[in-house]
Amino acid sequence: MIYGIGTDICDVRRIRASLERHGDRFALKVLSEAEFKTWKARSARWPERGVRFLATRFSAKEAFSKAIGLGMRMPMTWRLCEVGKLASGKPVIVLHGVLKDWCEARGLVAQVSVTDETDYAASFVVVEQKEKNP
Ligand SMILES: CC(C)(COP(=O)(O)OP(=O)(O)OC[C@H]1O[C@@H](n2cnc3c(N)ncnc32)[C@H](O)[C@@H]1OP(=O)(O)O)[C@@H](O)C(=O)NCCC(=O)NCCS
Repeated sequence: MIYGIGTDICDVRRIRASLERHGDRFALKVLSEAEFKTWKARSARWPERGVRFLATRFSAKEAFSKAIGLGMRMPMTWRLCEVGKLASGKPVIVLHGVLKDWCEARGLVAQVSVTDETDYAASFVVVEQKEKNP
């Protein structure tokens, strides 16, 4: 059954401004270790793609935080919720640490979709709860 849904829209210009003000420190606050490596590589090749990568991750994590009903409150943290990618290009939510434990204890599984246009990035997350005794 569906446990929760979450959506978020993020202003890419605000992310760009935060990066200009705080540099890597801002990216390190939002991104997991694996995401940070991808972000570094993309930013080095094409800074604008780095900004958009960070904006879509920012919106996906906020959307996930709403879908699980916590918002950005423990055990939900930016870095424990990672947006990975399958070989097909489809994004997937990969959880870590106490957030992973919290979701596993409740049988929660997430699906995510992200998009971006010139000034905005947006995400939608559906969280399902697996049946205990199917
Ligand atoms: C959920 C959260 C990440 C959204 O932050 P935001 O980017 O500033 O705001 P957005 O416009 O994207 O989303 C706001 C909407 O999120 C929804 N929302 C708020 N808390 C939520 C929760 N725990 N679960 C799911 N959705 C939530 C609400 O519908 C809210 O809109 P509304 O106030 O008009 O009803 C943020 O509010 C948060 O972390 N909340 C938890 C911490 C908290 O409650 N702090 C205040 C303590 S009093």
